[in-house]
Amino acid sequence: KQSNVIAPSILSADFARLGEDTAKALAAGADWVHFDVMDNHYVPNLTMGPMVLKALRDYGITAPIDVHLMVKPVDRIVPDFAKAGATVISFHPEASEHIDRTIGLIKDSGCQAGLVFNPATPLSYLDYVMDKLDLILLMSVNPGFGGQKFIPTALDKLRQVRRRIDESGRAIRLEIDGGVTANNIGEIGKAGADTFVAGSAIFNAPDYKSVIAAMHEQLAA
Ligand code: DX5
Ligand code: ZN
Repeated sequence: KQSNVIAPSILSADFARLGEDTAKALAAGADWVHFDVMDNHYVPNLTMGPMVLKALRDYGITAPIDVHLMVKPVDRIVPDFAKAGATVISFHPEASEHIDRTIGLIKDSGCQAGLVFNPATPLSYLDYVMDKLDLILLMSVNPGFGGQKFIPTALDKLRQVRRRIDESGRAIRLEIDGGVTANNIGEIGKAGADTFVAGSAIFNAPDYKSVIAAMHEQLAA
């Protein structure tokens, strides 16, 4: 298991002051920026694209940007996100016609590749691509909105994926996304996650720093 990473989802940030709010979360101790891309087609919401990511880079955000694509089709938009400055690009297997090709496209564009599993998506999608992945992202809510409640079956799924990653011997990050708070992050970490997305828990709090510190404390306990 790798070092713990806290990745605030800027879906819950102030869109009218996105650069400032993102920088504030990083200054408060966040490690990565989680960037949720929704297309009103694969998921019933519409957020931001490569131009917004590029604007964050131009604003001076240098932290890793973890792009979570909830779009269909996937392939056409991958090079645009790579050029805009993405670090990791993750996609949902149901949204890609050719999963292996999409992973190759992400890697060839110079980014790390992640595969995302919805609460009811079977882990069998991992069977033939584990050797190419840098990150596995398990959704603990159905994708589309921030502020939903953590679905507890994700804990057992985390344990299963942790086992598979350990058996693979590869340094694959295990990320969890949806309903993560300072109250449940401890047990989520014990189930095997090392990378934690949190949107509303951080951006709806009056003091980002104390939430992020509380999360690290719970993970260390
Ligand atoms: C949901 C997004 C999540 C979401 C998390 O589709 O992928 O990243 O913003 O928000 P919270 O932490 O509020 O559940
Ligand atoms: Zn996300």
